[in-house]
Amino acid sequence: MAIFKIVEIGDPVLREKAKKVTKISDALQRLLDDMAETMYAANGIGLAAPQVGLSKRIIVVDAGQGLHALINPEIISASGSVTDREGCLSVPGIWGEVKRAAEIKVRALNRDGKTIEIEASQLFARVLQHEIDHLDGILFVDRALKIARIEG
Ligand code: NI
Repeated sequence: MAIFKIVEIGDPVLREKAKKVTKISDALQRLLDDMAETMYAANGIGLAAPQVGLSKRIIVVDAGQGLHALINPEIISASGSVTDREGCLSVPGIWGEVKRAAEIKVRALNRDGKTIEIEASQLFARVLQHEIDHLDGILFVDRALKIARIEG
């Protein structure tokens, strides 16, 4: 296992549209493990591959429901809306009020390459939307209705 360096806003990889994963391999599964380790080491609840410098459509999320490692995730339905605070490991020291769908359904491949669907609400839904945005080069500050600096 290995911990990656997390890239920060200003790095062009965060603004790229990440590429779809076409092959499930041992190397890919190791990458998922390393991304999860990196997320936990940073006390994060979600991490997308572009945040570790890799332009691939992969995210890891643990918003209290256990670890979800998702390949090529897509939001296939969304309803409602909730505005709440969020932050990002790639945008340190800042939080913002972001409006997100309240409930979503996501289709993805799991670590074995099997298609799965996940229904999410509350924080889990927010984190999934935030991480999937990263795969399209979108940061929460682009969507924030209000931005503030975290007072230290
Ligand atoms: Ni983020």
